[in-house]
Amino acid sequence: MMEIKQAKFIKSSSVLAECPKSNLPEYVFTGRSNVGKSSLINMIVNRNELARTSSNPGKTITINHYLINDNWYLVDLPGYGYAKRSKEQRQKWEKALEEFVKYRDLLQVVFVLIDSRIPPQKNDIDFINSLAEWGIPSAVIFTKTDKLSQSASSKNIEVFKQELLKYWEELPMLFHTSALKKRGREDLLNFIDECNQKFISKE
Ligand code: GTP
Ligand code: MG
Repeated sequence: MMEIKQAKFIKSSSVLAECPKSNLPEYVFTGRSNVGKSSLINMIVNRNELARTSSNPGKTITINHYLINDNWYLVDLPGYGYAKRSKEQRQKWEKALEEFVKYRDLLQVVFVLIDSRIPPQKNDIDFINSLAEWGIPSAVIFTKTDKLSQSASSKNIEVFKQELLKYWEELPMLFHTSALKKRGREDLLNFIDECNQKFISKE
């Protein structure tokens, strides 16, 4: 498995134009507020407080770049649907999010995080569908699988898959994770490593 030797916070940006200039492959974690993006980043890189976590939804309101092993970026990107923001703020952010995923050249995969405890949400499905329509590679990460019994979370995940299959013939890559129990780390790092190898061979 890829070893994480170094993880450095580089920059917070509010729009694409402010993001770091880079020629390295990049992976984004996004999803609804409070789904566990920052916790998962910390679990992946094995640092407790690299990305700030909070039980207060909406804490992360910027595009946060973390440089890993000096050769790839992990990006903590706030998702959609923050109830506590005004409609105008939400629309502004959703535009920034769309611009980032469409035009960030070195973006390899957008990981959409989904809370394994809840039934499929319309804004998650809409976002996954939009990524596919825009031709952006995506993968789904189910989070917080420790919070339910294995059978209950598997059931929710199955319902989610069936929902996606209403729109698509093939499912994206799916990962089952728990930041608390450190579940899914190896699968995710192996997948990112494979994508990095493909990136290098294309250069
Ligand atoms: P925003 O930045 O506000 O959008 O949230 P986020 O998606 O970054 O979520 P964050 O990582 O801050 O986690 C939100 C809450 O869920 C925190 O209270 C975490 O401790 C909790 N949490 C995150 N991942 C897990 C998990 O795998 N298991 C459990 N039990 N709790 C988790
Ligand atoms: Mg966060």
